[in-house]
Amino acid sequence: MHSELHVDQGLDREARYATLLPQVKALLDGETNTVANMANLSAAVFATFGFHWVGFYLVDGETLVLGPFQGPIACTRLFRGKGVCAAAWESGKTLIVDDVDAFPGHVACSSLSRSEIVVPVKNANGEVLAVLDVDSVELADFSDVDRAGLEALVAVLEDQL
Ligand code: SME
Repeated sequence: MHSELHVDQGLDREARYATLLPQVKALLDGETNTVANMANLSAAVFATFGFHWVGFYLVDGETLVLGPFQGPIACTRLFRGKGVCAAAWESGKTLIVDDVDAFPGHVACSSLSRSEIVVPVKNANGEVLAVLDVDSVELADFSDVDRAGLEALVAVLEDQL
């Protein structure tokens, strides 16, 4: 296993996702510890794109509890019916929010976050176990390129569950 990522920062975002994917596959290959895999996946996305915050919230009863992440300290618990992460958890679908201030009930863990994308992590039965939350300081920073790229990375994690 390589201990360093190699992603050319001059590539566009789609190409960086394409370069990152096989490296994350190699990094997670054969490891079934979910905390370890979430930690490395967060670090890989954070290092590749320089987003403000990249991390996981884990389903814990009727709440989401903070899991492995990279970036500033964050809210420890999020609640059903409140915020972007909870909405992605409840719908089971990836959610892109161009302007978090316009999202009803958005939970502002960091006042610097302007837009975000949240991808659910599901087990083999399709139940949501966690969500991957990526936050940006830029408005409307996420598109279908990020949806496809992050969903492919989350699928690698799901394969190891
Ligand atoms: N913005 C998220 C909360 C989590 S953090 O920003 C790290 C939300 O509304 O669910």
